[in-house]
Amino acid sequence: MTAQIIDGKTIAQQVRAEWKIRADALKARGIMPGLAVIIVGEDPASRVYVANKVKACAELGLHSEHIALPANTSEATLLAKINELNNDAKIHGILVQLPVPKHNDSSKVLEAISPGKDVDGFHPMNVGALVTGNMRFAPCTPYGAMKLLEKSGVSIEGKHAVVVGRSNIVGKPMALMLLQHNATVTICTSKTVDLAKFTRDADILVVATGKPKMITGDMIKPGAAIIDVGINRMADGKLCGDVDFDSAKEVAGWITPVPGGVGPMTITMLVANTVRAAELSANQAK
Ligand code: GUN
Repeated sequence: MTAQIIDGKTIAQQVRAEWKIRADALKARGIMPGLAVIIVGEDPASRVYVANKVKACAELGLHSEHIALPANTSEATLLAKINELNNDAKIHGILVQLPVPKHNDSSKVLEAISPGKDVDGFHPMNVGALVTGNMRFAPCTPYGAMKLLEKSGVSIEGKHAVVVGRSNIVGKPMALMLLQHNATVTICTSKTVDLAKFTRDADILVVATGKPKMITGDMIKPGAAIIDVGINRMADGKLCGDVDFDSAKEVAGWITPVPGGVGPMTITMLVANTVRAAELSANQAK
């Protein structure tokens, strides 16, 4: 059996086209959705991610601001910048790229973002909304992973979904969204004893551990849907996921490649959340 490859690039284009219609409807009402992305420091990978986020907004004709602050920016200065953006009517979404340099308290930084502009969905108020099933802004990577399952026709209700990884950015919100869709959810970590016992029972397996190729074909249930959130650079310069694609694709029913799977969806869902933030703010102002 060879898995159906879930083409994240194509699905991302479809989803972006859907949100472009909503963005254009806002623009017709004189509202230009705007995103501000703040990056503190010089981390090369973060700089690439941030540049791509700003570019995606521009491609959809949205307003975007790219705010690059030096690594030694004080926490007070960063909080003041966030406060300024909270009060800026041109900006509907604010994102602070993580990680921030160690001298900042990242919880304090994320809590400073106005919940209505928190397009990453990391503010405790939005996390709480996700827990109670009243999702407002879902974190972009797991939101994108859910869209990939939906658009690929993978049924979730009643299925056993196993999430490997318990981060606030991916694992925990992913588990909550699957639960909201009536999956039976197990959360594992890279330290789970006899991990394969759990992964082999998964109808849907989401892997976000940052450990290259840790899930191999023999750990997968035949026909399962595999969502690989990992992006790891190997010694030869090539990218690979947390799943060993070559062995996994022989067993799985569906699988996301790396690159070209979850990656393109993360940025798409950020654009979606920004448009949604602008819609919510426009409706409040009515
Ligand atoms: N760093 C890695 N992923 C993310 C993300 O989704 N949002 C932010 N703000 N930082 C990240």
